[in-house]
Amino acid sequence: MEIWRLPYQPAVIHLRRGQTSGIYSIKTLPFPLYIKCSQGNESSSKKPDSMFILGMGFVGKFLAADLKSSGWEVTGTCTSTSRKKKLEEMGFHSLIFDSNEPLHEVLDIMKLHSHLLISIPTVLGVGDPCALQMLRHKELLKERLKGGNLQWLGYLSSTSVYGDFSGAWVDEEFPPRPTTESARARMAAEEGWLHLACDVGVTVQIFRLGGIYGPGRSAVDTILKQEPLSKSQKMRFSRHYTSRIHVADICQTLKASIQRPSAGKMYNVVDDDPAPREQVFKFARSLVEEKWPGHLTSKSSAEEAESLIPQGASRGAKRVSNKCIKTELGVRLLYPTYESGLRSIIERMENPFG
Ligand SMILES: NC(=O)c1ccc[n+]([C@@H]2O[C@H](COP(=O)([O-])OP(=O)(O)OC[C@H]3O[C@@H](n4cnc5c(N)ncnc54)[C@H](OP(=O)(O)O)[C@@H]3O)[C@@H](O)[C@H]2O)c1
Repeated sequence: MEIWRLPYQPAVIHLRRGQTSGIYSIKTLPFPLYIKCSQGNESSSKKPDSMFILGMGFVGKFLAADLKSSGWEVTGTCTSTSRKKKLEEMGFHSLIFDSNEPLHEVLDIMKLHSHLLISIPTVLGVGDPCALQMLRHKELLKERLKGGNLQWLGYLSSTSVYGDFSGAWVDEEFPPRPTTESARARMAAEEGWLHLACDVGVTVQIFRLGGIYGPGRSAVDTILKQEPLSKSQKMRFSRHYTSRIHVADICQTLKASIQRPSAGKMYNVVDDDPAPREQVFKFARSLVEEKWPGHLTSKSSAEEAESLIPQGASRGAKRVSNKCIKTELGVRLLYPTYESGLRSIIERMENPFG
């Protein structure tokens, strides 16, 4: 057993009584909270490594493929039969799980795995649907997971929990000051998972991710689509600094943390170069024009977005430090900058104009 302290004044989650898909509010305690947490299921004998991924989306699938190639058993969830079919065609065991539905069957299968990754996004106006469901059925969860094989739980959160630090560097010791509803929901979800994992005696790690990109989802892919930017993409152009991370570096960080579990620890998972989005899009466009000259016709997303940046407005945000994953987990980023990440993506691309 070890005792650890939450690195900031923790939020308390209040679920409204009788609510089925509830909204929760956050209240900050005026004192630090100490939690007694076991280092995993100490009594259970060692079984082969197996990962259960709640939410086989972009990161989930990438991690599943990576672990599978190193001999892990992997099971993942999705929300529809068509996605389940696709996952099975890719060679993954899969289950349908919607966090608004009962989770009995999922718990029975989840408990057979040694590791659990939660990779389900928050929903505006609802919060983290998965954390809510688990918190609502905390006793059931404890009872079902008792005597299981689960040792490690990872929750994929977001650097948005930090809020705006006027361009200053922030690390994991900084008290989050979430400014948006979704960032507040994220923070509440972090708290929920920290408490739940401790209750069921599992080592929990929180990973605060920057904007995720990788093959099939990057500024290069957006430029190639030659479609107008979505409203949320345009909004993100107003920030001076945006942290991002290549999906391969997320996976190597998760694997490093599995090798060196540290109960209750949070990690920022970002690259070395927080840069404005318009800079990233300009670079992506230059890569596309260099490789396939003369094909881009429409006004670039970056040019379009630059005209949307409010003149004289605060573009502070924050620069998120990744020192901790390097010093504590020994991570050496494969793609330390967006330039290196985007280059590797375009180098492996088939000609989309061919
Ligand atoms: N995208 C970013 O830049 C970014 C940045 C920071 C943090 N994050 C967080 O990192 C995590 C992984 O991101 P990602 O880009 O890999 O996500 P993603 O591709 O959107 O995948 C999300 C997965 O969650 C499942 N899901 C969605 N709603 C659900 C619900 N109500 N109940 C059960 N399952 C549900 C989806 O099911 P289907 O497969 O059936 O759709 C999908 O498998 C997410 O929590 C995300 O919010 C993302």
